[in-house]
Amino acid sequence: MWWRMRGWRGEAGGLPSYDAQVMTIDSTNNLLGLQGMDAGSIRALLAPAARLMENRRAFGRPLAGRTVVNLFFEDSTRTRVSFTVAAQALGAGVVQFGAGGSSVSKGETLLDTARTVEAMGVDALVVRHSSAGAAGLIAEHVGAPVINAGDGAHEHPTQGLLDILSLAQSHDRLGGFDLSGLTVAIVGDILHSRVARSAIAGLTTLGAAVVCVGPAALCPDGIASLGCSVERDLDAVIGSVDAVMALRVQFERGAELGDGADGDPGDAGAYAMRYGITSERADRMKAGAVVMHPGPMNRGLEIESAVADGPRCVALKQVAAGVPVRMAVLLHSIGGDVGAGVAVT
Ligand code: CP
Repeated sequence: MWWRMRGWRGEAGGLPSYDAQVMTIDSTNNLLGLQGMDAGSIRALLAPAARLMENRRAFGRPLAGRTVVNLFFEDSTRTRVSFTVAAQALGAGVVQFGAGGSSVSKGETLLDTARTVEAMGVDALVVRHSSAGAAGLIAEHVGAPVINAGDGAHEHPTQGLLDILSLAQSHDRLGGFDLSGLTVAIVGDILHSRVARSAIAGLTTLGAAVVCVGPAALCPDGIASLGCSVERDLDAVIGSVDAVMALRVQFERGAELGDGADGDPGDAGAYAMRYGITSERADRMKAGAVVMHPGPMNRGLEIESAVADGPRCVALKQVAAGVPVRMAVLLHSIGGDVGAGVAVT
């Protein structure tokens, strides 16, 4: 099945028209990642998200009577709540599944769990799991659309989309989402980051340059194969980039802070000194450059509190952008009668 979105007639806020846009997200309406997605498909998700960011009620409640299940096998604050708010804003009912308190504790497998939930008659599964590929595996075995809400160190596509929407908002690129001429530094634990993989794919597909900055142990040279450049010295790039995205050191995925030798990130103090977004570094950023963070933050490690709460930081704007992004993704995946403004067939 191909997605066809028609009727982006509104030009509110200078946003683009997307008449008869043909979507190529996935032949089964899943959203599993941004890697491999073409620019037109990314823009066709971002355009309605931008409309919804302006007016959350722009498309009414087209998912009334539909049911979305948050199938979360790993903890979450932002993504889980954001998908819930998004689905409810479109009129859908939302069911929360957490592995804790479920029959997973009795040995039920991932696929049996997903199939069991699907058998109750649901319209979409939003899946978070600590293993890369978990959402894709479920998508192969269920009929309902599957939206990846983060799978191990693989992808977090709605986070990537909201990062792009936030960057476009801060740099006046909402009209067309052409990011050419912008450079984004992604700093820290790239190796264990699904956020980085989705962001690199989405940002570069839309024309931005991405430089990944970190110690070799957390930002190996091979990361360049994703389409970015690699830099060890944050101070060499901080003054020239348009955005810095600070990433959490993901200890739960095996990241370690060691003694600082041979590319090792060092202890927490050494790491913060080399790769932390400090006030002193933020002061050296270009006028208009922003500090991003996907959350949750380790204040004092990858980002100083004064920066996190300061004027350059758009972390809460990123959180806010997550709701319209997830609304747009749910509309694509589930469809429905969206009434005036857009029709999904
Ligand atoms: N950014 C993000 O995915 O946050 P949560 O883990 O809180 O969902």
